[in-house]
Amino acid sequence: MTAVTETRLQVTPLSGYTGALITGVDLSSPLSPAEVAGIRDALHQWKVVFFRDQTLDHAAHIAFGTQFGDVTPGHPYEGDSAPPEFPQIHTVSPAAYDHRYGTKYRKKQSPNGPQWHADVTPLINPPSHSILRAETVPPYGGDTQFVNVAAVYQGLAPAVREFIDELRAEHRFGATFSADRSSEKIGDHVRSNPLASIHPVVRVHPETEERVVYVNPSFTREIVDLSPRESRHVLDLLFEQIARPEYSVRFKWEPGSVAFWDNRAALHLAPRDFEHVEGDRVLHRITLVGDIPVGPKGILSQLISGDFFGAA
Ligand code: SIN
Repeated sequence: MTAVTETRLQVTPLSGYTGALITGVDLSSPLSPAEVAGIRDALHQWKVVFFRDQTLDHAAHIAFGTQFGDVTPGHPYEGDSAPPEFPQIHTVSPAAYDHRYGTKYRKKQSPNGPQWHADVTPLINPPSHSILRAETVPPYGGDTQFVNVAAVYQGLAPAVREFIDELRAEHRFGATFSADRSSEKIGDHVRSNPLASIHPVVRVHPETEERVVYVNPSFTREIVDLSPRESRHVLDLLFEQIARPEYSVRFKWEPGSVAFWDNRAALHLAPRDFEHVEGDRVLHRITLVGDIPVGPKGILSQLISGDFFGAA
């Protein structure tokens, strides 16, 4: 456990590479500069930090986030389903997803995507951070996992790192939808406003300058500098590396828990065990305005379709 000087913050790592629990802070009150700096430093090292027993409502959740950056609308596709007066809030629950996408959605997959992902990487400037708070949680199950993609990059052989440093990949919302989902409401959103960008496969983190693997199985369609077959093999190698358990941490939610992660250094995996879980699971998320990714050789992201995702 590490104490952050001038504050009551205690930072307790939860695994070798990823995730730390922070205690000694009330997120519903304005933070001191030392507390903001302590949380930022913990994020730089652990990529996701967790807090317990917090008493945030929507307004306090947003106020907490603004101390770290500008808050975006809740989701580029889902503004009409935010709670009244809080367009920044994106509610994550099976019922909210049924409402947005139709009841078939719940049966097919857990909320918010079936695979490891960072939030909305098809945008030209994907959100830098996400802050998710739990309102209602089931008595067991429904955990979220996080993986440190700087560690994932460092775990690759030097020759592989050098090879992928030069590559770019297309990220597209709906990249992994199967044909039978094209009739659902989500298909309508995606067809009327496609979101797609080309990002470097390796991103240089703008604050820590670490290199991170910046592809994910939810949104990355293909590596554009390779043939489709070569792209599939390289992506499979990277996705397998991302899924290695040693790089990840698993978080068990309680009402009042908060997870704050850096989408430029961590991927997350929403739970897959809903069909075996009794009880509701309602969480609320905000995201912070992100920058445009840059790769190690100065490769810049390119917009294919969609708009810059600015403050709400
Ligand atoms: C998310 O993908 O932002 C939500 C993750 C979760 O439901 O645990």
